[in-house]
Amino acid sequence: MAIVAGRYNRPAMALPLSVRYGFPLRDHNTFGIEADAHAYLPVLSADALVAVRENETLAGLPRLVLGGGSNVLFTRDFAGLVLHMRSIGIEIVGEDADVTYVRAAAGENWHRFVQWTLMQGLNGLENLSLIPGSVGAAPIQNIGAYGVEVKDCFHALTAFDFETGKILALDKPDCRFGYRDSVFKNGLRDRAVILDVTFALPKRWQPNLRYADVAQELHARGLAAPTAHDISEAVIAVRTRKLPDPAVIGNAGSFFKNPVVPAMQRDALLARHPQLVSYAQPDGSFKLAAGWLIDQCGWKGKSIGAAGVYEKQALVLVNRGGASGPDIVRLAEAIQADVSARFGVMLEPEPVFVH
Ligand code: FAD
Ligand code: EPU
Repeated sequence: MAIVAGRYNRPAMALPLSVRYGFPLRDHNTFGIEADAHAYLPVLSADALVAVRENETLAGLPRLVLGGGSNVLFTRDFAGLVLHMRSIGIEIVGEDADVTYVRAAAGENWHRFVQWTLMQGLNGLENLSLIPGSVGAAPIQNIGAYGVEVKDCFHALTAFDFETGKILALDKPDCRFGYRDSVFKNGLRDRAVILDVTFALPKRWQPNLRYADVAQELHARGLAAPTAHDISEAVIAVRTRKLPDPAVIGNAGSFFKNPVVPAMQRDALLARHPQLVSYAQPDGSFKLAAGWLIDQCGWKGKSIGAAGVYEKQALVLVNRGGASGPDIVRLAEAIQADVSARFGVMLEPEPVFVH
């Protein structure tokens, strides 16, 4: 990890900060949960973060960095400062024999960014089409879908370190990417604000058709040699069929991570449940399909009050209208208890709970 001089390290300025108080967040989280932020600031550049850090009142508040709000669950009003990443800009910043480097600002919409790369003829991110949220949040949980994770095309990022006030440059090993995990959920948690991300997109592109749903969709479309654009379209079709559109019904995608268990535990479960869906991992462990476990417990389509389990995908919890954060938590805990009692596996939530 390096500290960067230059681009962002301008001398601190006494910026007029357009902070708003008692700001409603319902339209800024895809669950559509009613919650207010004590204070709210749209962030267009690192200058705003420098100014917050130097402002006595604001610096003392708890902070929440917010992108598209598609992986957060507000459990009550947030008694701190929301820093809403609104920076924009996409640029091709270099190339070598193997890859093209593209940098995007944290506030760019992820799907629009993926579509922009494809329109430039740059491939590699197509399997990650239609994932909601911002570019800056993509490394936080190393977003993944249909056989690809963001780490596969990640090159580097810059982040503002609230602890030191310095700009950090992180490369791929620095980020310690794992399944739905990174250094930003561990050592740099509540400290680093990602400012921009640089991707290395391969010049000798190979389609990734490992995920059966996508391969089947392409087959159904009669596309034996699909382009990256074809794959993007197929992914969009599969996702649209399976996952609820947050504009229509509030949700945060998968509510739980797929649990990873030792081979012995998976073998014991398989002996009792021959239909168990599991995927072998490179280290010999197995990832279990949490959606299958929840489905088997009979939760699909069920609700507790206004908090529900999506009819087409049991791993997705939904707000059927007017659900509060605690309503969603109550449903999640009931599901965890059932899955634990039946399969001996504790499900871990994927979204970040904001208290
Ligand atoms: P937010 O929800 O705003 O924030 C999430 C976390 O990241 C918070 O802790 C926040 O503080 C932090 N954060 C955000 N921006 C920054 C920043 N610039 N610097 C530092 N910290 C930051 N995820 C997948 O991996 N794969 C999927 O297939 C997938 N499908 C989804 C489908 C639906 C319908 C929905 C609603 C969600 C889905 N998700 C999926 C989850 C979500 O889209 C991702 O986690 C996404 O990266 C969240 O981006 P965001 O900008 O909305 O982050
Ligand atoms: N399944 C059921 N019943 C259900 C749901 C799923 O039996 O109600 C079974 C399916 O039949 C399938 C298996 O479970 O055999 C896996 O389901 P699916 O292919 O829908 O994927 P998933 O494991 O539920 C993961 C990610 C998604 C990502 C998709 C596609 C996690 C936690 N979720 O879901 O990511 O889009 O794979 O790659 O890893 C997210 O993180 O928010 C997210 C949506």
